[in-house]
Amino acid sequence: MSQPVKTLIAGNWKMNGLKASLGELEQLKALVGAGPLACDIAVCVPFTLVASAATAMAGSPVAIGGQDCHTQTSGAHTGDISAAMLADAGAAFIIVGHSERRADHGETDANVQAKAEAVIAAGLTPIICVGETEAERRAGSALAVVESQLAASVPDSAGTSKIVIAYEPVWAIGTGLTPTRADIAEIHAAIRAQLVARFGDAGAGIAILYGGSMKPGNAAEILGVDDVNGGLVGGASLKAEDFNGIIQAA
Ligand code: 13P
Repeated sequence: MSQPVKTLIAGNWKMNGLKASLGELEQLKALVGAGPLACDIAVCVPFTLVASAATAMAGSPVAIGGQDCHTQTSGAHTGDISAAMLADAGAAFIIVGHSERRADHGETDANVQAKAEAVIAAGLTPIICVGETEAERRAGSALAVVESQLAASVPDSAGTSKIVIAYEPVWAIGTGLTPTRADIAEIHAAIRAQLVARFGDAGAGIAILYGGSMKPGNAAEILGVDDVNGGLVGGASLKAEDFNGIIQAA
């Protein structure tokens, strides 16, 4: 029998945050205290802040993550950052395949899968994102889109290494809109079923996060849905008090 999945509340600062924003992390550290907590906590900051944030959060329950990485460890790739570099800077997690990267940088499932492999090879945990667009949901293909992204974005090594999945409907990101509980339950159950079919017991232990307009006010309701094992939080992770509100709901 597999263990219950520990809740993970992860923040994604996206392209927000200067050195001064480390004050929000210091405040978060003070708000959550030394632990132990009922959930794991991570904040995925811009590359420029990873090292200083990791140093500032050392000894606290707040882990630091990056938001993307290259598929290679090093080489002639001007402007890119490798998973090994993020590991060296103190990151524990790396988001891969966020819909903003899929849309803005044309990242395919194959790219995302290779990036997830690179994250695992660097000894870190990938947070692999999937989610349908508004048009896809309206066309009734949300489930099929998510299942196909999941199958092609998750590497085989996930069977023996820790990974996290984030279901983020694109139309719910930054819009204040959220799916119904039933819609979230349907997608998360399908993700769980696919992970178990592919990885057995290991698939039952993978955390599946929900992301898209999660706030302190709706977090408890969303986190109460079956197979929702945490949240990937954008806007509400930028302010320590809001993010802590979601952590407390967990
Ligand atoms: P919001 O919480 O701002 O909707 O963003 C969600 C997201 O994209 C997290 O990766």
